[in-house]
Order: sequence, then structure tokens, then C-alpha cells
Amino acid sequence: MSNSTNAFTTEQVLAALKHVSYPGADLDIVSSGMVQDDVEVEGNRVSFSLRFQKARDPFQKSVIRASERALRDYLSEEIEAEIHPLLPTPPVTEPERPLPGVKNIIAVSSGKGGVGKSTITTNLAVALAKLGYRVGLLDADIYGPSVPRMMGAEGAKPLLAEVEGKELIDPVIRHGVKLLSIGFFIDPEHALIWRGTMASNALGQLIREGNWGDLDYLLIDLPPGTSDIHLTLIQTLGITGALVVTTPQSVATDDARKGISMFQDEKVNVPVLGIVENMSWFTPAELPQNRYYIFGKGGGERLAKETETKLIAQIPLVQSVQEAADEGTPIALKESIMGQTFVDFATKVVQAVEERNRTLAPTNKVEVTKR
Ligand SMILES: Nc1ncnc2c1ncn2[C@@H]1O[C@H](COP(=O)(O)OP(=O)(O)OP(=O)(O)O)[C@@H](O)[C@H]1O
Ligand SMILES: [Mg+2]
Repeated sequence: MSNSTNAFTTEQVLAALKHVSYPGADLDIVSSGMVQDDVEVEGNRVSFSLRFQKARDPFQKSVIRASERALRDYLSEEIEAEIHPLLPTPPVTEPERPLPGVKNIIAVSSGKGGVGKSTITTNLAVALAKLGYRVGLLDADIYGPSVPRMMGAEGAKPLLAEVEGKELIDPVIRHGVKLLSIGFFIDPEHALIWRGTMASNALGQLIREGNWGDLDYLLIDLPPGTSDIHLTLIQTLGITGALVVTTPQSVATDDARKGISMFQDEKVNVPVLGIVENMSWFTPAELPQNRYYIFGKGGGERLAKETETKLIAQIPLVQSVQEAADEGTPIALKESIMGQTFVDFATKVVQAVEERNRTLAPTNKVEVTKR
């Protein structure tokens, strides 16, 4: 802004700058809008910004020099010009998303086997669907794909669907959840030969060539532990976040800690949405108020503190959970205390994902270097 002590008015500055034009342009730099309305005059000092169209504009220097020249020629040789080039910021490149219709991918992992990862994943899937979300579930546990049984889909054979000229694998739908399992394609007896690259490729195919459509959540039941398969899957998918399942005893939390460090490794950098402590206490059906801490107490809480993550749920050991899993109808489907426990857990997961998406950028896919 100009005032009475200044040598020139803003209008005079603009009039002088009208003598300059960008090479090849029809309009001068004022009329074309290159000169921004931040012109300041203070004594002999004139400052303003010039907007350029290209990040590396070949005429940036010459237009700035021509502007300085014009100010001196038309106003005063004394003028000190301070011209700030405004260059376009390169567009933020969104990481490539292999599944554009899928809003959030959540990996469910555990360090140790048998801690209830599949039980947690299937119940979470069903509870999210119950809350009205569009949910997919990929059983990526090549060593023991148990999701088909837990979801009542044992022996299902997914069909191929032609979508926009591409052949995709149609997930099986159970309890409102779209389901694909490595178990649909392998003979359980031969599950162990699915190792390394072969397993990664098969899993990659199930994910990328699954006809998932639009989903709010795609849950992935990972094999236990931390292997190359995990790394490949995690690094190529742009996973929104991970849930780490553990039981309270230290043999389980020690292994879970390794899983957490894998996600938190700077090369992987997948946010841990929370720790799920399963089998936190045992509650007998006939004494629903009683809690017996048969695997110890507070393991999940301690692990969360140590790893700066949060304990997102504690799920008790209850016989009906296991029975429902064996029957292929996850307990989360039932109106019961345990059903509600899983609905509450699902609500916490939704909140954690929303918070994560508010505060962090999408997880980058990382280039996987072959060893
Ligand atoms: N909260 C629970 N209450 C009762 N039974 C449970 C609970 N969680 C898991 N189970 C039972 O414990 C057994 C192991 O659970 P699950 O198969 O989910 O574990 P996992 O971590 O997926 O194992 P794996 O490493 O073999 O994949 C199952 O029989 C399951 O029904
Ligand atoms: Mg399992």
C-alpha cells in the first residue's frame, strides 16, 4: 500500500509495469494478471510478486529484469525492486492405488500364530458390515487359511467375472462380506508349498484381480509373523493401517512387538491403528460377570505404551466365540454381549481410520527391490 511518504503510488508502479510483456504474449504483465495484487511501495522500495505458468519458466529471469528496467525507466533510477517469482507447485502425486474403488485397506497381523487373528478379522468384517459399511475380506494366510470355515464358506469356488474387458475373480459373499481366500484355490493339504514369490504372486492376484468393486474397508488376514510375503504385500498395496493381534502373555506380546516394528520401519511406514488384545480374560457362560486372567493381565496395555500405539480393544475368551467360529457364523452376527463387544470394537476401528486419514497422508507404495 502506498502512503504520502512514498515516492510513488501503486497505480504508478502498475502503469510502469504495463510496458512489460511476457515474450509472445498478447497482453502486458499487468493486464494478463501476472503481477499479483501484493504491490508494496516504501520510499524507493517497490515489491510485488509475479506469477509464472511453468515451474521452470525459461523467461523468468528476463521478465523480472524487464520489470526492474521498466520501473527505473518510467519511475526513477533510484528504485529498488524486489520481485518474487511465484512458480506453480508441482501437482502432488497421489500414490498409485491398485484398488481405486477401495477406500481403506486394513492389514490384520499377529506375531504369534493361534492368538485369534482370524477370529478377530472375521468378526470385525461382519461387525463393520452390520454397521452399514461395504466390506471385503481377503484371507491371505497361506499357511492356514481358516477364514472360509469361520465365515461358512468352506468349499466355495469363486467364479470369474468379465469387468470392462478384464477377467476378475468374483468374491464369495457371506454375512454381507465379500470374501476371497487363498483357501478357495488350494488343497489345504498342500498349503505349505505356497511359499515365497509364488505365494506373493497368488496373493497379489487375489487382491488386484478380485472383483471387489467399491468398498469402505478391505480387511486382510495376514499369515502370522513377519516374512517377505508380508513385506511384499504391505509395500505394494498402500495399506491404510494395521491392527496387531496379541494375547496378554509375554510370549505373544514379544512377537507382536516384532510385527509392530515391521509396520513402523521407515521403509514400510504403515500406521498401526491399534493393538487388539484377544483372550484378555476368560469369562464362563454361567458367570458372565467373572473375569479370570488366565493368560496374565495388562500385556496389551504394556505393549501399546512401549510401542507408542494404542490398545484399541480387549476381547475376552468366551466359549461361544469359538463355537460360532466353528459353525461359520461369527459371534458378531448375534445380538449378545459378545456381539456388542465386536460392534464396539468395529466402531473404534472406524474412528481410528478416520483419525488416521485426517492426520496422515495416504501410505505410499514403495518400490520393492528384489534381493
Ligand atoms: N476370544 C476368543 N474366545 C474363544 N475362542 C477364541 C477366541 N479367539 C480365538 N478363539 C479360538 O482360538 C482358536 C485360534 O483362533 P484363530 O484361528 O482365530 O487364531 P489365528 O491367530 O488366526 O491362528 P493362525 O495362526 O492359525 O491363523 C480358534 O479355535 C478360535 O475359535
Ligand atoms: Mg488364522
